[in-house]
Amino acid sequence: MKIALVGATGVVGETMLKVMEERGIRPAAVGFFASRQRTAAVSFYGEMHDVGVANDAILSGFDVVLFAGGEDASERFVPALLAANRTVIDNSATFRLREGVPLVVPEINASSIRPTDRLFPVANCTAIVLCMALAPIARLAGLRSVVVSTYQAASGAGRAGLDELFAGERAAVHGEPDPTPTIFAAPLAHNVLPQIGSFGADGWTGEESKVRDETRAILGLPNLDLVATCVRVPVRTAHSESVVLTTERPTTVGDIATSLLESPGVVYHETGIVTPREVEGTDDVHVARLRALDASGTRFALWAVGDQLRKGAATNAVQILELMLSRGGPRG
Ligand SMILES: NC(=O)c1ccc[n+]([C@@H]2O[C@H](COP(=O)([O-])OP(=O)(O)OC[C@H]3O[C@@H](n4cnc5c(N)ncnc54)[C@H](OP(=O)(O)O)[C@@H]3O)[C@@H](O)[C@H]2O)c1
Repeated sequence: MKIALVGATGVVGETMLKVMEERGIRPAAVGFFASRQRTAAVSFYGEMHDVGVANDAILSGFDVVLFAGGEDASERFVPALLAANRTVIDNSATFRLREGVPLVVPEINASSIRPTDRLFPVANCTAIVLCMALAPIARLAGLRSVVVSTYQAASGAGRAGLDELFAGERAAVHGEPDPTPTIFAAPLAHNVLPQIGSFGADGWTGEESKVRDETRAILGLPNLDLVATCVRVPVRTAHSESVVLTTERPTTVGDIATSLLESPGVVYHETGIVTPREVEGTDDVHVARLRALDASGTRFALWAVGDQLRKGAATNAVQILELMLSRGGPRG
């Protein structure tokens, strides 16, 4: 199979290459693309490769095109690829809530893929981490409402977000003034920012709306009452989430713990804490601090952490690719 990667020089693109190597995916041919050309700029299976600038003709020479290049690139190239019967796995938000397009988190809803599907958006990274923790509970006892407050890492804003955090940290160490923020709403070093994305007319940020709408879509619960407050924190990688939830039916901490322990891709910590530094570079979503709010058997709180570059983006995308390979590859 011939695979192209658009956005090969970004943090998600780089992670996708690493995840493909780890999982032994060796395409017959592979093409690397970004917004500008570079020589020997990306490493894949120990070899350095040039990066080119994509166009419709070049991309249509590949069976599967992986997008990690932002909405501009996806809007520009995906329609022609679909018209040419190519398969697309897209990390951007562009097509996530399109009617009839599956929003696949393989551990949760792989069965929603139909043989004719060719477009696979990868859901919002915060929503994926949240859904990995919620899906086992929803299966066990139903889910009525969720209130989530997030602690999202700088790399969620791409390589430029990481660079801005590091520049602010260096300035703080040297007693220099904060560099003017261009990626974040305010200086991120030594700070927390209760804004991710721009504000809508309704007062919710873009990230908060995505977390609500995409969680509903992934879990297949269109009426789920979900409130998200999304906050950027000066963490390198891995998003953390504080979750308060109400189930439809009474259950217990013990039964929820069992359902989490039995769920592939979830690591449950019965005691202690888990932090983003510990999970960076790994694929599982970790759940800790599970507790009952009262004696009703329906109200619980928990803490979830996952590497948003991996399970929140690259690993989920590669898992979708593996699903297609296991089903005989994309239909041409
Ligand atoms: N970061 C995360 O945690 C995360 C999680 C889930 C989903 N996502 C999504 O994944 C995508 C990539 O994000 P990222 O964080 O990896 O960003 P990033 O580090 O800024 O990298 C962006 C990549 O896309 C390339 N690119 C930008 N515009 C392009 C265009 N018009 N045509 C071709 N290539 C283009 C860039 O090339 P140059 O290097 O040449 O500029 C770079 O390779 C975005 O859609 C983002 O929303 C990110």
